[in-house]
Parts: sequence; C-alpha cells; structure tokens
Amino acid sequence: MKLLVTGGAGYVGSVCAARLVEAGHEVVVVDDLSTGHADAVPDGCKFVEADIAEAAGDLLAEPFDGVLHFAAKSLVGESMQEPRKYWQGNVLTTLRLLDAMHEHGTPRLVFSSTAATYGEPEEVPITEDAPTRPTNTYGATKLAIDHAITSYATAHGLAATSLRYFNVAGAHGAFGERHAVETHLIPIVLQVALGQREQVQIFGDDWPTEDGTCVRDYIHVTDLADAHLLALQHAKAGEHRIYNLGNGTGFSVKQVIDTCREVTGHPIPAHVAPRRAGDPATLVASSRRAREELEWRPQRADLSVIVRDAWEFTRGRA
Ligand code: UFG
Repeated sequence: MKLLVTGGAGYVGSVCAARLVEAGHEVVVVDDLSTGHADAVPDGCKFVEADIAEAAGDLLAEPFDGVLHFAAKSLVGESMQEPRKYWQGNVLTTLRLLDAMHEHGTPRLVFSSTAATYGEPEEVPITEDAPTRPTNTYGATKLAIDHAITSYATAHGLAATSLRYFNVAGAHGAFGERHAVETHLIPIVLQVALGQREQVQIFGDDWPTEDGTCVRDYIHVTDLADAHLLALQHAKAGEHRIYNLGNGTGFSVKQVIDTCREVTGHPIPAHVAPRRAGDPATLVASSRRAREELEWRPQRADLSVIVRDAWEFTRGRA
C-alpha cells in the first residue's frame, strides 16, 4: 500500500513507519518537526516537512491507500494549561485531514487514540465499551476526534480504526523515545540510571493499590506498531472500529523502578513526592477485542523486555 504517516518523525510514528517499510509498504512521512526529529524518519520513507493542516490537501491529491495519523500534542499537563494548543493542534488539524481524505477519496485511516479517553475507570480491565469521561484536555481532544471519525466513516465510507494506546514504552532498534520535555516514567527512570538526573520522584504512595503507587499497563512500541499494520488489513469501508492496546497486566511505579534497577544494574534512587494532578490509580486494558478481531498477538509483553529495549536505545544515544 501507499501510506501517508503524519507525525512519522515522532516516537510512535517513526516506529510504525519503520515497521511499514519493513513490511514492504511505500511510506510518505509528513511532520512539522515541532516535537519530532528529522533524523528519526526511517530510511526508505519519503519525508515532507510541513504543517499537516496546511499540507494535507496537496499531499492527498496524489492517490494514497491510507493515512496513519500520529501527529498530535500529547502532554497531559500542558493540555490543561494551554487548551488552545490541543483543540487547534489536535482537533482542527484532524478535521482538515479528514476533509482532505474525503475530498480525494483516501479509503483508510488508522488514528492514534488513547486510554485517556476513558478517564477514571469504573472497572479494570478497561474494555472499549467503558464510559468515556476524560479527565484532561488531551483525552477530551482525542475523544472528540474519535467521534468525528465515526461520522466520516458512516457518512463517507471511510474504513477507520482508532487504537487506544495504554502506556507505550520500549524502543524498536534505533527508534525510540526522545522528548525534549520528558514526563513519562520509564525514560525518566532510565535518565537516572544514565546519571542525567539524580533521582526519580514517585508521585504518591497512598493510592488504593497493592503497594500504594499507581498501576499502569505498559505496551512495547513494536507490538503497538504491529497492531497498526493489522488494523490496515482488517479495516472495512463505512466502519469505525475502536481497539484498546495494552497487555492486560498492571505494574506499579515501584515495580517499574525495580525492573529498571534489575535491567540497568544501577541503584536508581527514588523518593516519594505528592500525587500528580489528574492521575488515575489504576489503568489496565482489556485488549480482547484486538486479539479476537485483529488477531493481534503482542510478542514483547514482559516488562523487563520493554525496559531492556528502552535502555539499549537510551544508552546508545547518550
Ligand atoms: N510517574 C512518577 N514519576 C514520574 C513520572 C511518572 O511516579 O517522574 C508515575 C505517574 O504518576 C503515573 C505513572 O508513573 O502513575 C506513569 O506515568 P506516565 O507519565 O509515564 O504515563 P501516564 O500513565 O500518565 O500517561 C500515559 C500516556 C498519556 C496518556 C495516558 C492515558 O503517556 O499520553 O497514559 O492513560 F494520556
């Protein structure tokens, strides 16, 4: 297939673009490099540096078999301080993209949605039928886009899939996480192991969980990327399918830090800090639907494999 990958210079986008090229697809990456890196665009992709809202119409005038839409603002904290950046950057940009796809008859879309669309869960593991009550602006914008996609799929015959990522981590060889502002747990812990930070803050140890720290479902970025390839194959015209992607196993912040200590051999000092606003206690996915309908089989569910690959990537760049 000939595929347009928005945000292919970012973390998940670059890994997916690499997987698509490995699978023999023709890939064009469009990215404005606001948070991505030009050298993260995999070899074998054509790269267009452009604002997606402005460039989508021209790019899609050439026939494409599908779009994988990763480009987005994705910092939960920032989304609460600067909502405009998220409503404009995420929602408006995607509406422009949807219009360009409709205008030029692009048949398939895979969209990076998020567990943040659910908010504080009533039950875990979280299924796709759980109520969607986002607790932050980031999640609200992704949910709004999911609704828009449903409308476009129904009205215009788009074959669409939204993949709701839980906690993505790890690296795919030379492609990994390189955020200018790092807020995610595993890369922060690995920065301590590398000596780039003195210690890790544990945001609260009085949560209603076994060891008192927050529990999350970590998924290897390569397994995540593979779900995108399956979504492209299984999509049907006029349908918008939604799948949660996680391993179905929760790890606490303390367990993650312990795994990082084992993998890196570094003591990784940690201290307990106040809770971070907006954090739910436990987020664990049910990915039964993805396993059943997409025949998705994560190969790297072991947390130590996820941390090992992230560590090799991080160390390689230090
Ligand atoms: N944490 C710490 N110390 C840190 C960083 C994080 O204790 O220095 C904790 C957090 O409080 C949380 C856990 O580690 O309990 C994981 O935090 P991350 O920031 O790595 O990930 P989140 O679970 O907050 O967010 C992830 C995605 C978001 C998405 C969200 C939806 O990164 O984009 O899942 O569930 F919105």
